[in-house]
Amino acid sequence: MNINRKEIDKRRTFAIISHPDAGKTTLTEKLLLFGGAIHQAGAVKARKAQRYARSDWMAIEKERGISITTSVMKFNYGGVEINLLDTPGHQDFSEDTYRVLTAVDSALMVIDNARGVEPQTEKLMEVCRMRNIPIITFINKLDAEGMAPLDVISDIEDKLQIECSPLSWPIGMGKRFKGVYNFYKKELHLFKPGRKTDIREGIVIKDLSDLKLDEIIGSQADELREDIELIEGAADPFEPDHYLKGNQTPVFFGSAINNFGVKELLDTLVEMAPSPGPRAALTREVSPYEKSFSGFVFKIQANMNPAHRDRIAFIRICSGKFTKGMKAFQNRTGKDVQFSNATIFMAQGRENVAEAYPGDIIGIYNHGTIRIGDTFTEKEPLKFCGIPNFSPEFFKKVILKNPLKAKHLRKGLIQLAEEGVVQVFRPVVGNDYLLGAVGILQFDVTMERLRSEYGVDAVYESVNYKVSRWIECDDPGKMEAFEKKNRTNIALDAEGAKAYLTTSEWQLGYCIEQWPEIKFNKTREISDNDRNLLS
Ligand code: G4P
Repeated sequence: MNINRKEIDKRRTFAIISHPDAGKTTLTEKLLLFGGAIHQAGAVKARKAQRYARSDWMAIEKERGISITTSVMKFNYGGVEINLLDTPGHQDFSEDTYRVLTAVDSALMVIDNARGVEPQTEKLMEVCRMRNIPIITFINKLDAEGMAPLDVISDIEDKLQIECSPLSWPIGMGKRFKGVYNFYKKELHLFKPGRKTDIREGIVIKDLSDLKLDEIIGSQADELREDIELIEGAADPFEPDHYLKGNQTPVFFGSAINNFGVKELLDTLVEMAPSPGPRAALTREVSPYEKSFSGFVFKIQANMNPAHRDRIAFIRICSGKFTKGMKAFQNRTGKDVQFSNATIFMAQGRENVAEAYPGDIIGIYNHGTIRIGDTFTEKEPLKFCGIPNFSPEFFKKVILKNPLKAKHLRKGLIQLAEEGVVQVFRPVVGNDYLLGAVGILQFDVTMERLRSEYGVDAVYESVNYKVSRWIECDDPGKMEAFEKKNRTNIALDAEGAKAYLTTSEWQLGYCIEQWPEIKFNKTREISDNDRNLLS
């Protein structure tokens, strides 16, 4: 027992969340640079560009020049094994973006200092809350003019309902930005702005009363001393326990593009972010230190190579040890699956993996036999919880151009729903297929894949729905009454679960008020049931 404890304790698996343009790509790149995983800034962006040019990705992905994939980047920093998961943003925001957060132990939130909390961050934060994921905050772009530090902190506290504890403090902003004081280490880093790509430490000052400080930053030295005194007296002190429970976020300031504040951030992350912890399954909690292997699928990436229709299932390891060529028991099918050709995602590409531990993400090639939500173990029947479908925010109706292809359409939709590309609903009234997604690009991907993989020529059309919730009720009589009254608003999802679809948040709120006995759920756990309910 416990033979892997050391390997597990030195792992940090986290996702970077932000609103587009806050600096997520830049910061990722700088973290990799500090981790020695890349040697030149620009490599992540360049790699993205190269990937599109290589044409083994979907045409649609190339056309739009954006990434539909979730990247996993593994690197080592000071003896710590870091698994960094990217959350797709921009137009490629999708359920995958949310589901990445089911596979991590903590998150790093990037906020643009000029913009404060933006909508996409709010949405991602809501998902973090579902599992109380600990979050470290990085306020970026201090080299440009933005909000006063205290204002951006209160913006975070108000909009995200999380207590902030500043662990660093900026010296000036914009042209006057000189560096950050680190409350945690009680030292000061000064720097000269400049978009150099090397890693610079700047000048380190250990004592705030050091006159060298006045020499270097002039009148800003006294301003800083006053700020620090004020913050130390007034700000919430950092409480590791509150952070680990997701109730408090340590806040760092910096400028990703200038490498500034990045090293402090990474050092702190490595020190305080949690290593892999226990994970709930339907029947029991699984400790990462258990000897037997277990893991779950949180993402499927299709069309890695269109000629082979192959897919990669991304598995988060929860316990035990993965070894090359091992067989694992797939709970949903009751079958053993040979994990040949498992891949681990390194910052600089994919590698065949010989062994992997809890916290690691491995990729398993398959031909559609693995679904999102699948649990793999050595032999114990087990089903991990907390890998849900999320309520769609956009809906479309599928119009089939050739009615003879109805069967193909059904098959395609079932498989795409299993892969998590899109959600499919059948209203109880009528014969339509409704597609539901949290990001609009999911519709284009669905249509493109229906055409190229299933030979189905279909288009989508707007519908009035804007909100949906899965519905449940302990009282069958009440449920029946609700369904009778709202027949035209009820649809079954691919697993046959009932959902209430409506035209606005306001309508939904009204309905919730009218029907207090009905539960309206924003998420629904993916089960091991067959998805043959679309016929
Ligand atoms: P994202 O992944 O969150 O979408 O953001 P990304 O890193 O692509 O950064 C968005 C823009 O913000 C980029 O500018 C980037 O250079 C800039 N940026 C990132 N960090 C900082 C910072 O610390 N200070 C300032 N002033 N800007 C920063 P762009 O003009 O869109 O792209 P580029 O031409 O610079 O690559």
